[in-house]
Amino acid sequence: MLFKLTPEQLMIQNMVREFSRKVVAATASERDKTKEFPAENFRQMGELGLMGMMIPQEYGGESADAISYVLALSEIAYSCASTSVVMSVQNSIVCETLNKFGTEEQKQEFLVPLASGEIIGAFGLTEPEAGSDPVSQQTTAVRDGDQYIINGTKRFITSGEHSKVVLITAKTDETKGHKGISCFIIPKGTSGLIVGRLEDKMGLRASDTTDLIMENCAVPASNRVGKEGDGFKIAMSGLDSGRIGIAAQSYGVAMAAFDAAIKYAKKRKQFGAAVSKHQAIRFQIADMATQIEAAKQLIFSAASMKDRGETYTKEASIAKLFASEMVNEVTARAIQIHGGYGFTKDYNVERFYRDARVFTIYEGTSEIQRIVISNQVLKDKRKP
Ligand code: CAA
Repeated sequence: MLFKLTPEQLMIQNMVREFSRKVVAATASERDKTKEFPAENFRQMGELGLMGMMIPQEYGGESADAISYVLALSEIAYSCASTSVVMSVQNSIVCETLNKFGTEEQKQEFLVPLASGEIIGAFGLTEPEAGSDPVSQQTTAVRDGDQYIINGTKRFITSGEHSKVVLITAKTDETKGHKGISCFIIPKGTSGLIVGRLEDKMGLRASDTTDLIMENCAVPASNRVGKEGDGFKIAMSGLDSGRIGIAAQSYGVAMAAFDAAIKYAKKRKQFGAAVSKHQAIRFQIADMATQIEAAKQLIFSAASMKDRGETYTKEASIAKLFASEMVNEVTARAIQIHGGYGFTKDYNVERFYRDARVFTIYEGTSEIQRIVISNQVLKDKRKP
């Protein structure tokens, strides 16, 4: 392996693996059916320090490195992708954004309870008519004395219902394009903040995805994150980290599908032998192992660049693009190896396949990742 894990990273991986396979996995299939939000699991994950892992301890986090974070996130995704997406959004685009751009007061009031796992957070960038192109968003924030009045609708918001604090972007100056977008913290319970419709999704069914509607929602000016006009860059910066998380989720789900496929292939007999003895299946397994290993190296590479304090925008997008496409292929192959049984709800592989489908879509589609990667490559000719 290119990366040798430190004793501390191995300890975190083992601790999360044990918790995930014992506690998270126990109810994952059931929650896929009932759509029940795993609130108790998140409480325990908060106690284990998994909800703000890379945040300094003084702000309720664990001061962990990005490698430890991707190890932990992929272990949670191995058992339940719904749980891992909430963990991913919380750790990166919510907690890291506040840690990087928030004031001391904002950190004390919002980051400490978020990073310690007391409360769940959400991030609202996407709108009904602004997905891949967030600059075209329509939500407005108008300054009125020492507050902002926010109006608009955010869509596909992970933890829209169960979050207690929401970070949103809104236009503070219609004329300035991305430089006219700002970022705000809105606590739940703020008058005019309404949780809208709950999406009925193909996968990640135990994680709530909702609209968030703001109708003359007044927030103090002290809840603005960064300067006026910084909102787009704040969101992009949060997504750099978020994309490593989605890649790690992809790796975790792929490993779960891979392990299930191997187990089944060794047990299932056709033509007088376990199907794992047949070359058709062996070659599928070899291809899956190769794809998964390549994704892992890309994820670790991006995470270690982040740990070294280097710019990792391109590497995060490469890892996200490759790993999310990989898990869609690996989960499809896992179903193929299971044959007709893979198409039934008696086996977990159909859940893995459904859960993985959104990984090439959220936090930037594969097409957006290709835009980011090509932009970065063309701008930096020395490091193609
Ligand atoms: N970090 C910091 N700043 C960045 C940046 C980054 N990674 N990327 C771009 N910027 C800055 C640029 O430097 C530029 O600033 P200047 O004008 O000062 O030079 C500014 O932002 C605009 O950059 P671009 O011209 O590249 O912007 P664009 O309008 O062409 O858009 C894009 C770029 C890559 C297409 C971007 O719009 C994008 O990523 N779109 C996809 C949005 C997305 O991923 N949405 C996911 C929603 S969240 C979600 O899914 C979470 C969930 O619930 C799971």
